[in-house]
Amino acid sequence: MLKLRELSAGYGQVEVLKDISADFYPGEITAVLGPNGSGKTTLFRTVVRLIKPRHGQIWLYDQNLEKLSSKLLAREIAYLPQMTETASNTTVFEAILLGRKPYLMWDTSARDLGVVEKVLQWLHLEEFAFRQVSELSGGERQKVLLARALAQEPKVLLLDEPTNNLDPKNQLEILKLVRNLTAEEKLITVMSVHDLNLALRFAQRFILMRAGKIYFHGQKEVISRETLQDIFEAGLEVINYEGRTFIF
Ligand SMILES: Nc1ncnc2c1ncn2[C@@H]1O[C@H](COP(=O)(O)OP(=O)(O)OP(=O)(O)O)[C@@H](O)[C@H]1O
Ligand SMILES: [Mg+2]
Repeated sequence: MLKLRELSAGYGQVEVLKDISADFYPGEITAVLGPNGSGKTTLFRTVVRLIKPRHGQIWLYDQNLEKLSSKLLAREIAYLPQMTETASNTTVFEAILLGRKPYLMWDTSARDLGVVEKVLQWLHLEEFAFRQVSELSGGERQKVLLARALAQEPKVLLLDEPTNNLDPKNQLEILKLVRNLTAEEKLITVMSVHDLNLALRFAQRFILMRAGKIYFHGQKEVISRETLQDIFEAGLEVINYEGRTFIF
């Protein structure tokens, strides 16, 4: 289990995350929902130590993450950032191989290459393997970044808007892949997503954030007209139909 306890973090003098406590479970996808600027990305960045918390702790099973070296942390947690800033001059293959960096000793092993090949297949990226990342479309790059995160073989997968730039077919394919891997490998998966219907379809747990705080959390039942109004103030309607929930 990934546990956040009384976490506060921010930028400069500004406190963004305020007293966040939450539990994330293996084999489940937790969706982090909230309006723009509510602190979702800041939460992910704090968990991977790109931001130092002012207060509070992060535990992965019985390990306090603060005590872990960055190389060991990268074997435990993979992070797919929201912004695709990688326009580097590498091939897709090399970009995914970078995900193996936390495991590399002196040289790339057969196992590292095997993992890259497996991940290329999962994401149907084989035909792109030796293309330059800088020459790919936004959606193709997004898949490469996800492939790199999966190549890390982490216990925790933090996905900040993983469906960014993806067409509907790719959105579904990627989220099905993430759902299957989460279940099979008992990954602790946390994703932020603005498409509430996709969140409802793929996540088992939900965290609703506003202004740096968690207001509601739990299973599907926490998603209601009232909670969504408190969080998004967008006049959203919720309907239940044949056992499924839809938001419009
Ligand atoms: N590098 C930074 N320096 C200062 N303030 C920042 C920085 N990054 C984010 N913020 C501020 O922190 C708050 C939370 O931002 P964050 O990116 O975590 O929101 P978010 O929930 O991920 O939003 P979105 O849905 O738009 O991605 C916002 O008010 C934002 O302006
Ligand atoms: Mg964000």
